[in-house]
Amino acid sequence: MPITPADLRAFKARREPIPVITAYDYPSARLAEAAGVPVLLVGDSVGMTVLGAATTLGVTLDIMVHHARAVAKGANEALVIADLPFLTYADPMMAVASAGRLLQEAGVHAVKLEGGLAVVETVKKLTELGVPVMGHLGFTPQSQHQLGVKVQAKDEAGARRLLADALALEAAGAFAIVLELVPAALAAAVSQRLSIPTIGIGAGGGCDGQVQVWHDLLGLGEGRPRRHTKVFAEAGATITEGLKAYVAEVKSGAFPTKANGSSMDADVLARALT
Ligand code: KIV
Repeated sequence: MPITPADLRAFKARREPIPVITAYDYPSARLAEAAGVPVLLVGDSVGMTVLGAATTLGVTLDIMVHHARAVAKGANEALVIADLPFLTYADPMMAVASAGRLLQEAGVHAVKLEGGLAVVETVKKLTELGVPVMGHLGFTPQSQHQLGVKVQAKDEAGARRLLADALALEAAGAFAIVLELVPAALAAAVSQRLSIPTIGIGAGGGCDGQVQVWHDLLGLGEGRPRRHTKVFAEAGATITEGLKAYVAEVKSGAFPTKANGSSMDADVLARALT
């Protein structure tokens, strides 16, 4: 049975942690689903992980539609959520048009957008029109030039603001909220105050679920993994080994063998060449 936003509330109600992973294409969606991941996020982190950019800011709606369509094709049961890119939801009607493309052209089930009180009217409008919305608070990468890449809401005012934002998003109809780079104790307290699930990244174990970036989790990232990630498989090293073996076999002539090709009647060939 396909997972729905309502199912995520049920996960929370029975205290069953919700694993979420980013996916950016058809094979990653298929692999994640085969592993039992119930929620796939087509994050605008695609700009960095797949397209080599330094931030998410250059990711356009066209880029998101392109990747989200592939993910939606690879997922049969998982709930597929796509990020609304930077400045594509500057007002409610703009958000409706942007979300419409992601649901209608790409086939995702829900959208995620960043921000608190500033996007409440937008969340209301989208949910009124039948678009499920996931919020995103704490460190919001689309505002990184304003916030800096660091843990947010560490002081009393920041913590109060984050709680108020979370409650406002819930009241506006959001079905879940990502909490990114937030002190663990605050994330746990906010999770307890909400009836919708929180999905943490760098926000400790007190959230209702966790989201991780595909490349971080699978050893495909560059440089040292960040503190809040864990490498669960060294896929990057495995891929490099495989590619080295391919290069060596092509150079040595060991690949391809007869079995990798198809045969042809020698007389037919001889006639064709005369
Ligand atoms: O774009 C993304 O990958 C995200 C997650 C880090 C939550 O927003």
